[in-house]
Amino acid sequence: MGQPLRVGIVGVGAISGQYLSTFERLESVRLTAVADADPARAEAVARARGVRALAVDELIADAEVDVVLNLTIPAAHAEIALKAVAAGKHVYGEKPLAATLEDAEAIIDAGREAGVRVGCAPDTVLGTGVQTARKAIDDGAIGAPVAATATMATPGHERWHPNPDFYYQPGGGPLLDMGPYYVTALVTLLGPVASVIGAASHTRDERTIGSGPREGEVVPVAVDTHVTGVLRHESGALSTLVMSFDSVATRASNIEVHGQSGSLIVPDPNGFDGDVLLHPLGGAWETLPPSAGYRGAARGYGLADLAAAPEGVPARADGALAYHVLDIMTSLLASAEGGAAVAVASTCERPAAVPLQDAPQAA
Ligand SMILES: NC(=O)c1ccc[n+]([C@@H]2O[C@H](COP(=O)([O-])OP(=O)(O)OC[C@H]3O[C@@H](n4cnc5c(N)ncnc54)[C@H](O)[C@@H]3O)[C@@H](O)[C@H]2O)c1
Repeated sequence: MGQPLRVGIVGVGAISGQYLSTFERLESVRLTAVADADPARAEAVARARGVRALAVDELIADAEVDVVLNLTIPAAHAEIALKAVAAGKHVYGEKPLAATLEDAEAIIDAGREAGVRVGCAPDTVLGTGVQTARKAIDDGAIGAPVAATATMATPGHERWHPNPDFYYQPGGGPLLDMGPYYVTALVTLLGPVASVIGAASHTRDERTIGSGPREGEVVPVAVDTHVTGVLRHESGALSTLVMSFDSVATRASNIEVHGQSGSLIVPDPNGFDGDVLLHPLGGAWETLPPSAGYRGAARGYGLADLAAAPEGVPARADGALAYHVLDIMTSLLASAEGGAAVAVASTCERPAAVPLQDAPQAA
């Protein structure tokens, strides 16, 4: 195996802990530095992990950082990613790729011109859950896929997140926040999307923080909080999407895929594993054993997959996929606004399937 890719994290907030614990058990990546707009946060993480705390610009320029892991809030994704690319670094970021499609395009273009890799979460779809479902579809277990449903229905993240402001600002909302898991899974399972039609509603102008030091504080809502729509895949399959921060609870499957000779239940695409259930025509529900994907995966495997990708071979959690996913979501919001179907201008390759294995291995 070659040298591990040296990682500098910008933004060590709520989600960073999951990446930090993943890096302790992956050989293809090694943490070397952290930075945050709040230097005290970076210093605390640096002390705990035995790495350096740097200013953001120092980290991006640092000779011991090969890839900038961008875990800032969506509104800062583009600024940090563009700086990293300008410094000749690879960049892998949390979802969405950027808060707007224009910013996302700028990142992809800059990455291509600089000859560096751009990768993006979610990497949950590389786990055994979605990958086993994909293998079942590719192996013909449900026949020709016809349709899918994807449902994410919750009361909203302000109940548990101590700083939920960004979920209700542009770049947030149920679609841009949780949609990346579902739409990336749908593209992984059924391929790219050609057009969309959507509808959305904005039910309240304020949300009340439910936990942490700011409990009881009210945050403004600038986005639609219930978004529904239909995605027409290039294959002709139709996916129906419901993404809601205005629902109390649901018993709907996260994702179901229906084909001419079978139906599949796909586990939560915001997780890496879980049971895949198959109902063949004329049969009954059966649980499929894990047959594909990274076993025991966690946040950070997408970056390790990028580190392991041979020269010239796209990483699975690639920027082009994240761009197409963002294009689908922004097209859905545009359709909801305008009331007519919208053609999705971009497309992408379906990412390579993940054979069943423990972890990405550097080439
Ligand atoms: N919290 C979750 O459960 C979760 C899960 C999956 C993905 N994500 C994604 O991870 C990202 C971060 O979410 P979070 O919940 O960790 O947010 P957070 O607010 O807890 O943490 C973000 C951190 O980034 C820092 N930051 C913001 N702008 C910065 C800038 N310009 N330069 C340097 N540092 C900056 C903040 O100071 C903060 O420490 C988001 O894109 C979110 O969608 C979050």
